[in-house]
Amino acid sequence: MTVAVYPGSFDPIHNGHLDVIARASEIFQRVVVGVLDNSVKSCLFSAAERAELVRQSLPPGGSVEVVHFSGLAVSLAISQGAAVIVRGLRAVSDLDSEFQMALMNRRLEPRVHTVFLTTGFSNVYLSSSLIKDVCAHGGSIAGLVSPAVETALRERLVRAAGTIPVATEEAE
Ligand code: PNS
Repeated sequence: MTVAVYPGSFDPIHNGHLDVIARASEIFQRVVVGVLDNSVKSCLFSAAERAELVRQSLPPGGSVEVVHFSGLAVSLAISQGAAVIVRGLRAVSDLDSEFQMALMNRRLEPRVHTVFLTTGFSNVYLSSSLIKDVCAHGGSIAGLVSPAVETALRERLVRAAGTIPVATEEAE
């Protein structure tokens, strides 16, 4: 049984991440999403909130597991019995930093291999930062994130800023 971990910040999870998780689930027998709990990076949502949003965004009845972790991604992989770290690639621009990370992870733990999965064309421009920015300024993020994430983002960003969302799918 090949186990894969998919580590990331997921602040918050979007459809590009979900696409990668779906593809990973077709390849690996067990997929564990690892939500990084790291105080160095300032996140909009806590690690527990981000992990819960991942759970709420996954298709019901699936077998993908969600954990949050601190420390090294390779340590998460070893603790989960995973030989594979999955990372998503959107464009060539992602490759530089991902290549560095993959090689560093291999140096840290040669038993763990990084597998890159490309996201679908419809998701290549998505990033959590861009989605937060659009939402914070009242733009529509419908169809880019799960309904659970959309609600959570609106509550955290739009209401907090007192911004009135101007463009929702329903309104168009
Ligand atoms: O979603 P992100 O922010 O691009 O994910 C980056 C992540 C979480 C995969 C990376 O920062 C990571 O693995 N952090 C854990 C600490 C670690 O292992 N650092 C060395 C990586 S070479």
